[in-house]
Amino acid sequence: TVKVEKYRPKFHFSPTEKWMNDPNGLVYFNGEYHLFYQHHPYGTEMGSMHWGHAVSRDLMTWEQLPVALAPDEKGMIFSGSAVVDWNDTTGFFGGKPGLIAIFTHHNDSGLTQKQTQSIAYSKDSGRTWIKYEGNPVITSDIYRDFRDPKVFWHEETKRWVMVLACGQTVCLYHSPNLREWTFDSEFGEGIGSHDGVWECPDLFALPVDGDRTKLKWVLLVSIGAEPDIKEGSRTQYFTGHFDGRTFVPDEASQTIRWLDYGRDNYAGVCWSDIPEEDGRRIYIGWMSNWKYSNKTPTEGWRGAMTIPRELTLESRNGEAVLIQRPVLELEKIRTPLLEVEGEAVNELNLILKDQQLETYEIVAEFELAQGIDSFGFKLRTSEREETVAGYSVKDSVVFVNRTRSGVVDFHKNFAGIHQAILPSDLQCLQLRLIVDRSSVEVFADDGLVVITDLIFPSSSSLGLSFFCNGKNEIPYQVRIYQL
Ligand code: FRU
Repeated sequence: TVKVEKYRPKFHFSPTEKWMNDPNGLVYFNGEYHLFYQHHPYGTEMGSMHWGHAVSRDLMTWEQLPVALAPDEKGMIFSGSAVVDWNDTTGFFGGKPGLIAIFTHHNDSGLTQKQTQSIAYSKDSGRTWIKYEGNPVITSDIYRDFRDPKVFWHEETKRWVMVLACGQTVCLYHSPNLREWTFDSEFGEGIGSHDGVWECPDLFALPVDGDRTKLKWVLLVSIGAEPDIKEGSRTQYFTGHFDGRTFVPDEASQTIRWLDYGRDNYAGVCWSDIPEEDGRRIYIGWMSNWKYSNKTPTEGWRGAMTIPRELTLESRNGEAVLIQRPVLELEKIRTPLLEVEGEAVNELNLILKDQQLETYEIVAEFELAQGIDSFGFKLRTSEREETVAGYSVKDSVVFVNRTRSGVVDFHKNFAGIHQAILPSDLQCLQLRLIVDRSSVEVFADDGLVVITDLIFPSSSSLGLSFFCNGKNEIPYQVRIYQL
């Protein structure tokens, strides 16, 4: 028998041992999805940062490989990205394709913190890496916070583009060969949230409503919040235009827009080099929050990633908004458990009462009939514990309440209710809940809003129930899958 460690995710990636934060170097190459990550191999708290490494062929099952990049005399290895250098623009690969990692060297051994950008190359599909002898490739005399390079090939200008976090803005650079970089522009002053330093940007084009002739650019920016911001670290996004040099935000970006309304989705970015015939933009985030990430109650390991998600841009109420859905591969790890349709709340509860569920997915649809105040599911319940995920009709608000979700006392800001507003004219609501041993992810209204929250319930809290306030009836269709 396999011993299950307390809180160890069943189908979300987590390191077999020790500390993990941001996803790094997300790249697809030769049939493998690479997931590098910020890793402290000698401790369960943030410390001497390395790049850990895992690979997957299906985005659901991961094989952890040895550490890919370790600190050196230039500093620790902070966050960054990876690309396939298909045409050997670097000259490192003798004309063949190979992998390049672009990362931040973080050096705090001197009087002031120094951050510089460096590169490394791999000729064996990411198993071993050689750091470039000309490192660093970008330095700054201005910025103390100068990190998290995300690089992509810009086909129109036929060169590499880098988006880099600089204090509370992002800077854009370009390069013919990933070794020599030229500064182009800076974005972020006077727009967006400035609750803290900007980190882990990503910039990519997406078709609006699937129309490849209508592309819009999306800029993700994570914010390492100042201590007095109660939400802690979170991620905002902008939409706009990018010509290879400058990002110009559109009208909709004048309002702050969040990627996730839970507390535990940070520093997320997208995979590079997904084959054109696939064409998806696949995202993954670190499922924690700097507010309390060093204190979560796991033992021997700490940190997990979100479920990989496909990002699309879709028009909702006349505005192109970012939509998130779990990648289709999730369906391959489903075992159908039950499917019920009806109206009576007590009938649904009679069925749910007999279930003992630890890791599962609920796909549900509700008709928002007159007279209903709020409704939702109580997950991972026992006499003393419950996590509530539901919808308040009156306020058009989706919420997760984790105040009684299990262990919550490791940080004063952990317990709480997290919510997101949906359009008030909804006739019916679709909710998709993904529950693992220490997390719940809520996708509401077909991915329009997402709430990602960690929870630490007892392993014996396996109850599931449904509630509806205001009425005993609500037209529902509920499908449950074991994951
Ligand atoms: C974001 C971050 C990055 C940095 C890394 C260090 O969570 O602070 O800006 O590169 O973590 O581990």
